[in-house]
Amino acid sequence: MAEQIERAAGLLREGELVAFPTETVYGLGADARNPAAVAKIFAAKGRPADHPLIVHLPAAGHLDRWARDIPESAHALAKAFWPGPLTLILKRQPDVTDAITGGQDTVGLRVPNHPLALELLHSFDSGIAAPSANRFGRISPTTAAHVRDDLGDAVSLILDGGPCTVGIESTIVDLSRPRTTILRPGMLSAIDIGRVLGRVPDVAGDLQSPRVSGSLAAHYAPRTPLVLMPDDSLSIELRNAIVAQERVAVLATFPAPFEMPQVFWHIAPADPAGFAHDLYANLRRLDALGCDRIVVQKPTGQAWLAVLDRLKRAAAGSGSR
Ligand code: TXA
Ligand code: MG
Repeated sequence: MAEQIERAAGLLREGELVAFPTETVYGLGADARNPAAVAKIFAAKGRPADHPLIVHLPAAGHLDRWARDIPESAHALAKAFWPGPLTLILKRQPDVTDAITGGQDTVGLRVPNHPLALELLHSFDSGIAAPSANRFGRISPTTAAHVRDDLGDAVSLILDGGPCTVGIESTIVDLSRPRTTILRPGMLSAIDIGRVLGRVPDVAGDLQSPRVSGSLAAHYAPRTPLVLMPDDSLSIELRNAIVAQERVAVLATFPAPFEMPQVFWHIAPADPAGFAHDLYANLRRLDALGCDRIVVQKPTGQAWLAVLDRLKRAAAGSGSR
């Protein structure tokens, strides 16, 4: 692997794209100091050029190369959660390229918690800009095979670090505004963050500006139309679908209540962390069945906030392209 890491760092220095594992999802990386390299990310993903990217750092010690006027809260959160599934939005240093920030005065920074990502970052010794390594709007990759399926030749090298342990994207916390705000929920919750800051942060509403592309209503989406159903209406919904002669794929935390020939039933872990861990692989698997519909049990409760966020966006974007 050491050889692979050296090769990956060399490719990044030459302005090429390298996909690498993180604990959340696989990233599509480029040298964050090289605008031409960063432009390749947007081309490979088919992503609008004004959407800002997260810069991955080897350690919190690199923060002030990228951000200025760093508040004490940033150091406290970095100390508590890095390396880990947390992205901090801070005021940028003037030399951070617009290609990264989408022309905004802020930059998103995180230290990922994956041994390969950290080795790569230490070897590269600078920032790696990396969105999730999927085509724009589609399901994020949590294995190297997902990346290959989605991006194939567009990426020079894919480092295979096995399945991601968290499974959904990092929590994004904006520390550049007067009130600390969560822009994208993740498995690190507002309560976890509040415990460190001494005050629970605001959580941006559904109408959050689309400058955070993960906050576009339609995102993380399968091609098959996907609907969310509360437990109690799930079986009624299924009976209707069967009467209508539909083939249905179901993702639920409990087994099928009765035999249904046109229904493919997949049982997901009943805890939020387990459900999140498997979520994108499960959505890909169900999408590949080519059913008329994917029906997902709608989770409820605070602990499911990040999972529910991704499911709603998957539902909103499903059934197109
Ligand atoms: O877990 C993750 O965060 C993964 C892994 C690869 O680290 N990355 C990821 O990247 O999810 P991406 O590009 O798919 O989503 C990053 C989000 C986007 O919604 C982007 O708009 C937002 O971060 N973002 C980046 N910089 C920002 C900024 N300066 N202000 C507001 N949002 C920003
Ligand atoms: Mg993404």
